[in-house]
Amino acid sequence: ALVSMRELLDHAAEHGYGIPAFNVNNLEQVQAVMAAADEVGAPVILQASAGARKYAGESFIKYLVQAAVEAYPHIPVCMHQDHGQSPAVCEGAIRLGFSSVMMDGSLMEDGKTPASYEYNVDVTRRVVEMAHRVGVSVEGELGCLGSLETGMAGEEDGHGAAGKLDHSALLTDPEQAAEFVRATQVDALAIAIGTSHGAYKFTRPPTGDVLAIGRVKEIHARIPNTHLVMHGSSSVPQELLAVINQYGGKMKETYGVPVKEIQEAIRHGVRKINIDTDIRLAMTGAVRKFLHENPDKFDAREWLKPAREAAKQVCKQRYLEFGCEGMG
Ligand code: G3H
Ligand code: 13P
Ligand code: NA
Ligand code: ZN
Repeated sequence: ALVSMRELLDHAAEHGYGIPAFNVNNLEQVQAVMAAADEVGAPVILQASAGARKYAGESFIKYLVQAAVEAYPHIPVCMHQDHGQSPAVCEGAIRLGFSSVMMDGSLMEDGKTPASYEYNVDVTRRVVEMAHRVGVSVEGELGCLGSLETGMAGEEDGHGAAGKLDHSALLTDPEQAAEFVRATQVDALAIAIGTSHGAYKFTRPPTGDVLAIGRVKEIHARIPNTHLVMHGSSSVPQELLAVINQYGGKMKETYGVPVKEIQEAIRHGVRKINIDTDIRLAMTGAVRKFLHENPDKFDAREWLKPAREAAKQVCKQRYLEFGCEGMG
């Protein structure tokens, strides 16, 4: 059944686990997430960015998720708008049937320029008022995603802030987080701790100076009843990069967020963990490998099948690692 995010995250908090929120934009990704969740008994958060809604089309996104709910009636599914850039975008998502929306007021409507605290509170509070009237949950974001190594957002990602960001903007302030949650009444809060979107997060395996799990603990200590969200949380497994590069890809050396660090964050209030890139890497590697080994094949189903299977494996692994088994 379609459920709100609040319902899922309250349960996760009560039982001390975290839920991976997977970005989807096509049939095979939705099938992969659902099949993985079904195998381990996990609850599901399917999230669509504005780009995903544009790619698939509004009706296709809506009915892909509806199909997932119908095909797996025993699994609770939250349909979440990822990075809503304005109250209007969130309103559109709610009208389309999303059970949860993110109002990302950390950036202006262009999705690049860092916004003022006052702007963020204003747009987020307006979305909460509108959403809560119809039982829809809201995720807000305080602080800007971006690398503490370089001050830049993820290289290949269109959502990053323009130019260099101030170090303090890249780390959510615990006191301001408490004030923000009080003023907006959000159901969940995305925080900035040095992660960024895309494959190029860290130039070496991250240490505490560039991936501030300590900051999660400080924020959780200040607002223990707020569900925290980690964006940019793909782990960028070296094995997946290796498959891509072995079969003709050209990805540079890069490191993601280690699962161990996410597990530590889950012990300190993180309940929703956003993952898109790992699925992209898994699918791309699988397609490259299949087509390399089967140069005579041309039925799209034949290469989409291993791609879907590879995505499913990643999803299943994260469900198990984040403690979702049997929680759905
Ligand atoms: O917000 C970042 C997600 O990875 C979605 O990316 O806008 O390319 O769909 P996208
Ligand atoms: P990744 O690029 O690390 O998968 O992050 C996805 C995300 O935060 C979507 O909102
Ligand atoms: Na989100
Ligand atoms: Zn994100």
